[in-house]
Amino acid sequence: MQAGPRHVAIIMDGNGRWAARRGLSPSAGHKAGVERIRDLIEACKERQIEVLTLFAFSSENWQRPPKEVELLMTLFHSYLRREARRMQEQGVQLRVIGRRDRFSPRVQRAIVEAESLTRDGENGTLVIAADYGGQWDIAQAARALAEEVARGERALDSIDEASLGEHILLSDLPAVDLVIRSSGEQRISNFILWQAAYSEFYFTDTLWPDFDVEALDLALDTFRQRDRRYGGRSEDGLEAQA
Ligand code: IPE
Ligand code: IPE
Ligand code: MG
Repeated sequence: MQAGPRHVAIIMDGNGRWAARRGLSPSAGHKAGVERIRDLIEACKERQIEVLTLFAFSSENWQRPPKEVELLMTLFHSYLRREARRMQEQGVQLRVIGRRDRFSPRVQRAIVEAESLTRDGENGTLVIAADYGGQWDIAQAARALAEEVARGERALDSIDEASLGEHILLSDLPAVDLVIRSSGEQRISNFILWQAAYSEFYFTDTLWPDFDVEALDLALDTFRQRDRRYGGRSEDGLEAQA
């Protein structure tokens, strides 16, 4: 049996289908989806999960209809304004990862304020990936290394998995143990490509607005039964067959 995960990342998918089944617009699904987050943060804290990373808006999601993008931005802004104080009280540190320059100044300000308000939290970290793309993340890390080389601060030979990895976002946090995707899709959709190198994956048909604490526990139970080998032999080994 595996110990529980320290870092869980979730691709919160299925809001549109949840709404469509009820004859509602995608916006109603997004609103219902946001409501799930509060309980999950609490549940993660109770289960000693140190980091919860949520994929809220991908770099490709700008392609959605303008009305939907606008609603998602409004929801993101009001979430930050409303929940930052609660997180501060809970001692949860908030971090937003992704490009920031495409957000409106209002949203950018709310991000900075929420992060600074929750900076001293010691009871866990909530990471929100917004305008985030895994390929962008790798590219920004490569650019940071290239700048160090150009400034004469780094030798070209020192570029390897470890030095690039230090510039990939979340490198200061425990590795992502478990990636969950709701709604039945089984793809990564440009989420944490580098960080998920040895994550376990869990896919569920449950649509995001229905993903409750029970659904989380099911994912965690499945995780505990996984045999993580990292390319080696499992604990009980296959020595007999060697
Ligand atoms: C996920 O729900 C939320 C975002 C991508 C912001 P979707 O809106 O993708 O839901 P489906 O996939 O259409 O059901
Ligand atoms: C991935 O979901 C992004 C988020 C959940 C924020 P999408 O619904 O955008 O992904 P695709 O288009 O189905 O791959
Ligand atoms: Mg989707």
